[in-house]
Amino acid sequence: MDFLRCESLLLFLCVIGCCAGQDILPDGPVDAVLGRDLVLATLFHEKPDYSFMIWSFNGGSEPVSVATLGATSGLTVNPDYEGRVSVNATNGYLSLTSLKSEDTGDYSFTIVSTKGVTKTAEIKLRVLKPVSDVVVRSDLPEAVEHNSTVTLTCSAQGSFLTFTWKNDSAPIKADGKRLTLKDEETSSTLTVSAVLRSDLIGPITCTAANKLEKETSAPFNLTVHYGPDKVVLSPPNSPQFIRSGSNFSLSCSASSSPAATFVWFRNQTAFEASGPVLTLEMIQKLGSGNQVEEYTCRAKNTKTQRSVSSLAVSFAVMDAVSGTRIIGPDVTLIAGNSTVNLSCQATAGTVKTRTWLKDGKPVSASSRLVFSADQSSIKIDPLQKEDGGQYTCQLANPINTDHASFNMVVNFGPEPAVVVGEEAVEVNDPVKLTCSASSVPPANFTWKFNGTVTPEKTAQYTIKTAVYKNTGMYTCEAHNAITGKTATYSHKLSVKEEGALDEGLSDGAIAGIIIAVLVALAAAIGLIVYCRQKVPVESPY
Ligand SMILES: *[C@@H]1O[C@H](CO)[C@@H](O)[C@H](O)[C@H]1NC(C)=O
Ligand SMILES: *[C@@H]1O[C@H](CO)[C@@H](O)[C@H](O)[C@H]1NC(C)=O
Ligand SMILES: *[C@@H]1O[C@H](CO)[C@@H](O)[C@H](O)[C@H]1NC(C)=O
Ligand SMILES: *[C@@H]1O[C@H](CO)[C@@H](O)[C@H](O)[C@H]1NC(C)=O
Ligand SMILES: *[C@@H]1O[C@H](CO)[C@@H](O)[C@H](O)[C@H]1NC(C)=O
Ligand SMILES: *[C@@H]1O[C@H](CO)[C@@H](O)[C@H](O)[C@H]1NC(C)=O
Ligand SMILES: *[C@@H]1O[C@H](CO)[C@@H](O)[C@H](O)[C@H]1NC(C)=O
Repeated sequence: MDFLRCESLLLFLCVIGCCAGQDILPDGPVDAVLGRDLVLATLFHEKPDYSFMIWSFNGGSEPVSVATLGATSGLTVNPDYEGRVSVNATNGYLSLTSLKSEDTGDYSFTIVSTKGVTKTAEIKLRVLKPVSDVVVRSDLPEAVEHNSTVTLTCSAQGSFLTFTWKNDSAPIKADGKRLTLKDEETSSTLTVSAVLRSDLIGPITCTAANKLEKETSAPFNLTVHYGPDKVVLSPPNSPQFIRSGSNFSLSCSASSSPAATFVWFRNQTAFEASGPVLTLEMIQKLGSGNQVEEYTCRAKNTKTQRSVSSLAVSFAVMDAVSGTRIIGPDVTLIAGNSTVNLSCQATAGTVKTRTWLKDGKPVSASSRLVFSADQSSIKIDPLQKEDGGQYTCQLANPINTDHASFNMVVNFGPEPAVVVGEEAVEVNDPVKLTCSASSVPPANFTWKFNGTVTPEKTAQYTIKTAVYKNTGMYTCEAHNAITGKTATYSHKLSVKEEGALDEGLSDGAIAGIIIAVLVALAAAIGLIVYCRQKVPVESPY
């Protein structure tokens, strides 16, 4: 009965003490790591007045005594705690060694003074499992951008864990849409739907922590396959014609993970070429290319299963024109009697245009000059002297222009000969007669005097000092050895006595007089005709 009353009193005191007791224990809770040692401190700095100090424990069901320290009777330890606990006789600190999980709970401390005043306080202890084995795992070994939903699980050992995720150094936060986070006791799940290539290159780390400890996972990467993105053909444009055999190629690129594979198409038809570069050599090996055709490349990513085509580039392959030559006559050509045909050919290349020039100017058709339908030859019939000259034929295509020349020599003449020189000289005067006659090849000249051949063989006949017997007829004969034609011209010379030519009117004056007389005569005739028309003639009837 006494005991019961005492217990009730203690409980009553305890309730009072609880309310006033926090000046004997600090605020809790206290966290401690499993297996480690712990001291539960009181707030006493010096030895208080006490007859008993009592530590008890409530693990959730019933309170049990841990240890009681009597000022005179000494320490009494609950057998369950034997060897693990001690109470400092000076300040009442409770020491607990080798903490167990079951030590988690409420500890109460009661101090009974020598006067029987009792104070009680409580403090909560949490024994935490250490944080360990923090690992990030993915439910997928690799992912496909936009398609995959990736779930990363961070698991850890430990108690009272909280998890944080980081991408490189930036915290990952749930956005309620693509990114969701779900925490459980010993794991956290990060779910990324429609994953992007940038989401998980991180590296991603997960940190598990409790009050006392934290541990971070090893960096985690997940390969997110993507692409091919925009597929680019280079060069994006090309000339319409590419010179056959030249160093031309198309290259295709696309950003893609893993790297894309490339196949090529000509006019939408796949042709047997793969790889990022399509060379002209491959195009030519795989057939013509002589028409303007469209080339595209298609990039394919085997992981994402996506294929993307480039824009098209169009061109044709063309051979350069080479080996141009003119085939012309190899016989002697004579004006008025020859016909010629010049034809122009190339040994290689596709000729698109043919142009003929003579002495640098375009050749035009005429009644004597006709072009063949394809302009590859010209025919001149009959040949005339003005047809002689340098003929050039130009063969061109969009790649290049090649040309050849032919020098055409047209033999003709001599044309009518002319002698220029004095007609009358005084004795001892010099005489110089010049004969000319246009001719190809140049004519050979011979001179005759009064019908007798002279030794002179040039175009000029000279007499240093004239004598009377030089008077007579000088005939120049111009002869063309190729045409066989000869032209002659006779010139009269008279040698007169000294002074005979000084007087008299000059040739100019004589000409002036003659003209004046003619003009006067014409005026007179004109007047007469005029008068005849104006004056009415009487009818004879
Ligand atoms: C008890 O606590 C006092 C004061 O803090 C200290 O000096 C003393 O060494 C402690 N006693 C034991 C047995 O630990
Ligand atoms: C993650 O990826 C980055 C970039 O590809 C690389 O530099 C890093 O070494 C990777 N880390 C791990 C743990 O695979
Ligand atoms: C072809 O062109 C490329 C790039 O212009 C150059 O690197 C290469 O040496 C060239 N090859 C030949 C055979 O000229
Ligand atoms: C990705 O998603 C698209 C559209 O939903 C689908 O057509 C495609 O087959 C998917 N790709 C892969 C590799 O699963
Ligand atoms: C023109 O040619 C014909 C035949 O070749 C020849 O008989 C004739 O003599 C020639 N005439 C001239 C002026 O050369
Ligand atoms: C010139 O000769 C060639 C070959 O003999 C012939 O094919 C061509 O038609 C001739 N040209 C003309 C304009 O007659
Ligand atoms: C040449 O002929 C002319 C006229 O026909 C004559 O006057 C002259 O005496 C002749 N000269 C000679 C050297 O024969």
